[in-house]
Amino acid sequence: MRRIIQVGLGAMGQGWADHVAQSERWEAAAYVDISRKYLTTAAEKHGMPKNRCFRDIVTALQSVEADAILDVTPQQTRRDICEAALEHGVDVLCEKPLADTVVHAKALVERAQETGRILMVAQNYRYQPVVQTVRRFIAQGKLGRIGYVGVNFHKGPHFGGYREKMPYPLLLDMSIHHVDMMRCMFSLDIEAAQGVSVSAPWNWNAGDATAAVQFEMQNGVMVNYLSSWISRGWETDWNANWRIEGEKGVLFIENSEVYFTNKYATRRKVALVKMVKTHQAWLIDEFARCVEKRLEPETSGGNNLNSLMATHATVRAVRERRLVRVNELFEE
Ligand SMILES: NC(=O)c1ccc[n+]([C@@H]2O[C@H](COP(=O)([O-])OP(=O)(O)OC[C@H]3O[C@@H](n4cnc5c(N)ncnc54)[C@H](O)[C@@H]3O)[C@@H](O)[C@H]2O)c1
Repeated sequence: MRRIIQVGLGAMGQGWADHVAQSERWEAAAYVDISRKYLTTAAEKHGMPKNRCFRDIVTALQSVEADAILDVTPQQTRRDICEAALEHGVDVLCEKPLADTVVHAKALVERAQETGRILMVAQNYRYQPVVQTVRRFIAQGKLGRIGYVGVNFHKGPHFGGYREKMPYPLLLDMSIHHVDMMRCMFSLDIEAAQGVSVSAPWNWNAGDATAAVQFEMQNGVMVNYLSSWISRGWETDWNANWRIEGEKGVLFIENSEVYFTNKYATRRKVALVKMVKTHQAWLIDEFARCVEKRLEPETSGGNNLNSLMATHATVRAVRERRLVRVNELFEE
């Protein structure tokens, strides 16, 4: 069993603590949270002794032996926490987004390279049957070359907390899942973004929470991404609904089911690939495998930069009303 320090035991952190407790590869070495309430609740639930509960990561790293940390704090604290861990010589699994700014994300990737540690981002949406089914279908050449794609995402969550105070809560929090899904399913990176964002009259967030964005991907693939976090009804699920047009037909994702049609056949369901573990359960096992064998994870910090920069390029594009190339951010 390898030992992991979990930092952040809020809404998402509680679920992660359950996954660590159930893991055959990891045991929780310590818990860290600035909130005494969250710390105590998790410690009582999982039997973590008081002398292994901390209010800051540096004290935790200095006080207990550990192989890795799991950072489930908001993106604004990501760099400080993960950098402290990398410099202490332990591997890192962190929640998405990799950081709050591109500069902080690049600094973390550089620090991981300098220290020779693993930095893995928890892009869990990749690791579920619907995404792996579409990825395989396309990789097997059954769709042919992709031409253009439409994505519709409509949800109306009331999160409260830090998200509702962010300037572009949807684009800087949720959209990285959809951006990362497209990179995974099409095996293509994102090159540029343009679009508009809207604050509808009933928007309950401080920042715009609806956007109509066009992504340009490698091979000239265009993705039209209409997304909203303030929907008033008939919501999509979290994966969004997709229409992927290829030269051999059309693939649809609707309510996490996959369908295919072409001019010779009516729309039929595509059988989903079977996965024994998905989402966080898959990630935590894969993190253990990478730590053990010193492998670069598929969603390493370095790989994840394109997903993160695409979301920041989108924010710049809607703010400045122009096409923004991802390289523009990479080179700054
Ligand atoms: N992958 C997913 O599907 C998914 C879903 C929800 C949230 N998330 C991500 O998980 C992360 C946390 O989100 P959340 O909804 O749990 O937020 P949250 O606000 O509910 O919890 C964050 C926790 O971090 C603690 N914290 C803040 N700063 C800290 C610090 N410096 N040191 C120690 N603890 C600190 C807070 O006290 C809180 O308990 C975010 O990055 C978010 O994007 C991912």
